[in-house]
Amino acid sequence: MDRIRIRGGRALKGTIPISGAKNAALPLMIASLLTEETLVLDNVPRLADVSLLQHILGNHGVDVTLSGKRAGESENTGQTLQLSARTIVDTTAPYHLVSKMRASFWVIGPLVARMGEARVSMPGGCAIGIRPVNFHLDALRALGAEIDIEEGYVLARAPKGLKGARIEFSKVSVGATHTALMAASLASGETVIENAAREPEIADVAACLIKMGARIEGAGTSTIRVQGDKHLRAARHSVLPDRIETGTYAMAVAMTGGDVVLAGARAELLEVALDLLRQAGTEIAVTNEGIRVRRDGAGLTPVEVATAPFPGFPTDLQAQLMALMSRARGTSKITETIFENRFMHVQELARLGARIHLDGETAIIEGVEKLKGAPVMATDLRASVSLVIAALAAEGETMVHRVYHLDRGFERLEQKLAHCGAAIERVAG
Ligand code: EPZ
Repeated sequence: MDRIRIRGGRALKGTIPISGAKNAALPLMIASLLTEETLVLDNVPRLADVSLLQHILGNHGVDVTLSGKRAGESENTGQTLQLSARTIVDTTAPYHLVSKMRASFWVIGPLVARMGEARVSMPGGCAIGIRPVNFHLDALRALGAEIDIEEGYVLARAPKGLKGARIEFSKVSVGATHTALMAASLASGETVIENAAREPEIADVAACLIKMGARIEGAGTSTIRVQGDKHLRAARHSVLPDRIETGTYAMAVAMTGGDVVLAGARAELLEVALDLLRQAGTEIAVTNEGIRVRRDGAGLTPVEVATAPFPGFPTDLQAQLMALMSRARGTSKITETIFENRFMHVQELARLGARIHLDGETAIIEGVEKLKGAPVMATDLRASVSLVIAALAAEGETMVHRVYHLDRGFERLEQKLAHCGAAIERVAG
């Protein structure tokens, strides 16, 4: 298994291109199941999760073609995928595939809406918590699907098609909002989704569905109205920039000091995180190219924050902020409100010398002057990258194990950081 070796202590300087958002690309690819015609997606990041979803969609009969790099295009240009679900050959998403990537459960909405049936494995728990799918099932039931659970599979049936309805979520869920939105696009009549997730990735998927012919209002707010249609059509859509990748590299620069332009990044996708970084003593400026992040030699000011659904501070940046605050001048508090078990990075950060203790859902981080390199490993994507951030400022060498987690969600991480002066390399095998 590959590892990443980092020698800490170098300031980052230069430009980091921001890739297309993983968490928009995945549901956008799934949306291809809604139409017999071809969906073309540009700016798709080259990630292990994208490749795995290509394979999963292929299993349902989706023909996925990857356009090769065009002359003059840099390696930073995202890939173009053409997805054509002319014929759905299989409405089952098997356990061995869904268990590898939870978001593949989301095929359930388009499959039942278009084919009148879907048999999708329950995803099971994962390293960041229990993560049930009850809200997805409630939404499909509201739209008229019959739901049964058999041998670990969810069977959803709607032989006469889905019917528009009012869906009110008791808690904000990104995935369940995607399921409701995609299913409602092919349902007859009007659907109103209340307490919908407001994440920019929801608005991005809605923008694509609108290009495909769906009539959707309010995506990006907590009430979404959908007028369903029997057929959606071909469309072309470019994936929005990744706000979590943006925030991660902004925190890396805050950690090491330096001056980096995050090219293609959009500040309005992560205002709360950028404000926190300003509070911590980082200069953030919006430029024509993207976002410029600068910090000179001054120490970091501690912060207090709780994760929350968008527009709040994202749970997907919680681990990275904790790494950063491990070197602040004082005590920080970070409360995790979205997932009950998303603190697996605490023990690994401690191996690098961070002083963190947990009080229920709150991590209390006492800043230390120095971190020291060590071998570390992590259990999920964002936890792994928090170790990279800590290692960039740690004295000596850190070896990050289980790099496959990083490959799921960060495109060319070591090249992007090395290009800005970090001493980072992948060690094969
Ligand atoms: C999405 O996961 C993201 N995944 C996650 O990113 C992100 O952490 C999360 O949203 C929160 O922002 C993708 O977009 C592919 P939720 P999702 O449904 O949709 C509970 C990353 O690192 N819940 O919004 O699965 C759930 O347990 C990943 O890129 C139910 O109780 O998250 C959690 O406590 C990790 N029942 C809360 O709601 C349900 O049916 C929010 O989860 C669904 C969710």
